[in-house]
Amino acid sequence: MDLIFATHNRHKVSEVQAMLPAGIHVRSLSDLGCDEDIPETADTLQGNALQKAQFVHERYHCNCFADDTGLEIDALDGRPGVYSARYAGEGCSFDDNVRKVLAELENVPLEQRTARFRTVVALILDGRTYFFEGKVEGLMTLERHGVEGFGYDPIFLPEGYGQTFAEMDASEKNRISHRGRAMAKMVGFLERL
Ligand code: IMP
Repeated sequence: MDLIFATHNRHKVSEVQAMLPAGIHVRSLSDLGCDEDIPETADTLQGNALQKAQFVHERYHCNCFADDTGLEIDALDGRPGVYSARYAGEGCSFDDNVRKVLAELENVPLEQRTARFRTVVALILDGRTYFFEGKVEGLMTLERHGVEGFGYDPIFLPEGYGQTFAEMDASEKNRISHRGRAMAKMVGFLERL
């Protein structure tokens, strides 16, 4: 089965390729020669995942999926949440976002820095839409640790582990991460079909 992953984020494509069984071939937007910006203007993770999947489905008429992820920090009333990508402003880098979160949490002690990553995946298969959700609880660290991964990985310590996502190798992160858990649900669904 061929599935298009509706993202331009090469980190996500390689993470997800490594998670899927051999019978499911993930192709990226660059495999299709698509370099258009995909709209992401909804105010929920589910709405954004659906918007991205529908955009690709309408243009290419293929089976496809998209994910949308938010980091919810309790001490920031759930921010950045659905605005995680552009938290530090339009055109900002991953590093700008990390710096902003660390600054906002400056006086918050470790035990109050609870947070979670939440991912919603929207799959469009033979014209029907299905959703899968995954989340992982953890703490926002006091400073950056590690260089692997992307986004907020250097400052997210998953519950029950002594390393941030950016200190783990990809296979360990994928096993416990928000996206890994959502993708595992999608794979289980596809295998049952
Ligand atoms: P997206 O809209 O699903 O691409 O995710 C929004 C933002 O959340 C991204 O730009 C990253 O900053 C962050 N993000 C998504 N997934 C991860 C992850 O696995 N680790 C760290 N940050 C992530």
